[in-house]
Amino acid sequence: MQPSELDCPVEIVWCIGEVSPLVGSLTASDFSWLSVAEQDLVRKMRFPKRIGEWLSGRWTAKQLLSRYLPHLANQQLSSVSIESHPDGYPLVWVDGKPLKGCLSISHRQDKAAAAYTTEKDVLLGIDLEWIEERHPAFLQDYFNDYEIEWVQAAPSGERAARTTLLWSAKEAALKALQLGLAIDTRMIEVHPHIEGDSLDWQILEYCGDLSKEGYRLIGWWQRRGDYMITLAVNLPATEPPAFYLREISLSD
Ligand SMILES: CC(C)(COP(=O)(O)OP(=O)(O)OC[C@H]1O[C@@H](n2cnc3c(N)ncnc32)[C@H](O)[C@@H]1OP(=O)(O)O)[C@@H](O)C(=O)NCCC(=O)NCCS
Repeated sequence: MQPSELDCPVEIVWCIGEVSPLVGSLTASDFSWLSVAEQDLVRKMRFPKRIGEWLSGRWTAKQLLSRYLPHLANQQLSSVSIESHPDGYPLVWVDGKPLKGCLSISHRQDKAAAAYTTEKDVLLGIDLEWIEERHPAFLQDYFNDYEIEWVQAAPSGERAARTTLLWSAKEAALKALQLGLAIDTRMIEVHPHIEGDSLDWQILEYCGDLSKEGYRLIGWWQRRGDYMITLAVNLPATEPPAFYLREISLSD
């Protein structure tokens, strides 16, 4: 990719939603908004928790796409099919044709989040985590020495938020790298900027990242109530482009 191709801001749209108001219960049987391929997939799932998360992620992602992309605005949600690559990342089809761009999905507790960009050569990872205390062994297993020190340097009331932030940032990066948990999470060192209002996006720097040659990872984080949201972007390491992170409200 030539640097000039990224001169315009990269627009990333994202949303956070409650579990589908349509399906209500996580094991509801109204699958009319799912494509045939999605219906086949969900019928093969055995665990209600997984079914609920999968449905809430699909619902939230379809809401995002249909509110953002004009050509999907009047389409049936069932014409959009969000399937999974064997490595786990989502692949989107519209009426049997691949949708250009990159979609990322996360689900946690009663919420799901999705992010999407039409930009070529830009991979996204969004992650949503419930802020909670974790056992000290969790830090030892997943964080490096620098990160453990950063968590422990915080006042005790802030440690759960810092731990959750680092964990979420690593998961977002693993999604943007399309690696999942196949690698040791200590190989991705996270440096969150903390300036002012954590209710707005703040920068995440990644060190020792695992992007392929010529690519780099950058990210953002914000706190929403009891949740931490992180967004990682894996893109060509040309001039850092401007980003426009636009939240799409699902409540309208
Ligand atoms: C990707 C991963 C970091 C997901 O994080 P998580 O906090 O557990 O779950 P989240 O709800 O935030 O994200 C799940 C979504 O990530 C996406 N995802 C899964 N694997 C992915 C990958 N390799 N690259 C990018 N995105 C991926 C999917 O959209 C998935 O939702 P879906 O299956 O309903 O489509 C991680 O759990 C993972 O690697 N999962 C896939 C492999 C796996 O389950 N391994 C078992 C343990 S080794």
